[in-house]
Amino acid sequence: MLGNFSYSNPTKLYFGDDSLKYLSEELTRYGEKVLLIYGGGSIKKNGIYDQIVRMLSEAGKKVCEVPGVMANPTLEKLYEGAKVAKEDQVDLILAVGGGSVCDYSKAVSVSAYCEEDPWTKYFLRQEDPTCRIIPVGCVLTMVGTGSEMNGGSVITNHTAKLKIGKVFGPEVMPKFSILNPTFTYTISAYQMVAGFFDILCHICEQYFSGTDDNTSDYLAEGLMKSLIHSSRIAVKNPHDYEARSNIMWTATWALNTLIAKGKSTDWMVHMIGQSVGAYTNATHGMTLSAVSLPYYRHIMAAGLAKFKRFAVNVWEVDPTGKTDVDTAAEGLKAMETWMKGIGLVLSLKELGVTEEMFEGIADGTFILTGGYQTLTRKDVIDILKESM
Ligand code: NZQ
Ligand code: ZN
Repeated sequence: MLGNFSYSNPTKLYFGDDSLKYLSEELTRYGEKVLLIYGGGSIKKNGIYDQIVRMLSEAGKKVCEVPGVMANPTLEKLYEGAKVAKEDQVDLILAVGGGSVCDYSKAVSVSAYCEEDPWTKYFLRQEDPTCRIIPVGCVLTMVGTGSEMNGGSVITNHTAKLKIGKVFGPEVMPKFSILNPTFTYTISAYQMVAGFFDILCHICEQYFSGTDDNTSDYLAEGLMKSLIHSSRIAVKNPHDYEARSNIMWTATWALNTLIAKGKSTDWMVHMIGQSVGAYTNATHGMTLSAVSLPYYRHIMAAGLAKFKRFAVNVWEVDPTGKTDVDTAAEGLKAMETWMKGIGLVLSLKELGVTEEMFEGIADGTFILTGGYQTLTRKDVIDILKESM
């Protein structure tokens, strides 16, 4: 481990099929006004909403709501939630949903009392909050983003055609998150596998960098192996508790800062994927699955030793008698077979991307320098072409 770092994570987790009961205990730590934030209605259909409203009422809370948080939450919706949180002077924001609802709740928590435009301050200028922050707690219903235990918040500004993430510090991370794997059973197959790929991609973004022998990379390999194993079971039987619980736990550790310790990180698949998302509003995990293989094939030569290690340690490719290039390429081929097997989207066309969008998507792609190769604008366009 060559890097210098500090590590702490303030989010308390409650995990398991009876974990919701701990919400009552957590609620005693906050004032009486709770802002309940949720998405487009899945929690009403599957009964989670009723359970939570009952617990809030038993705890004597005064509850206001911001429903209708869309997948890929928008800036307009953020303004709406910030207004409600401030006017109702809420003491706690309770996010019940997937990454979109958790991300959005964090954005509301730092925007309610923000004296400037939150889009300009947090997302364009990437500044940290200087105002009062409302505490956030999460009940997670969709697995993938890691938002339940990180400071990430991604907001889409459709007018500017930009989807930008801000990674806030520990003061914005959820105070607690409740992870009940059975709450994820009702997710559609499409969203479920998109979430699985989001997890793999988060791990890869942190794995494909650096040349030192680093414990973080061994942790990453273990998480990837667990995910690949359990994902194959979960697509056949979405109610397999063992598989779904392993995947839920893997997702949290894939992006709660741990496996980035002592490393630079890449994140270029996310940068391209988010720009695709700004143009198409496509499902986050699918934007990543469509661009990943072309991106990795594009940069493979620059990070050959790690790609060979990925092939051998994660995909169990036998390197005997093969060149490093052949072994590494076989690893990416095995990844492709897995992706096809679980039903991921492998083409940007399927997500509504047209060639006329390439220039704009490239304009909205932030170029980061932590990976094995720093992309040029032409590289981004080439990768988009190869992803069609
Ligand atoms: O809105 P409802 O009706 O709840 O439906 C949602 C939504 O349509 C549905 N869903 C969620 N839980 C369900 C369910 N349907 C049935 N049963 C359940 N139990 O699933 C759909 C997708 O939900 P969403 O929250 O949008 O998915 P996800 O968790 O993938 O979050 C995506 C957002 O997170 C951002 C993405 O960019 C995107 O905006 N990310 C956040 C990150 C972070 N905080 O660190 C990192 C990620 O890379 C990502 O960028
Ligand atoms: Zn992601």
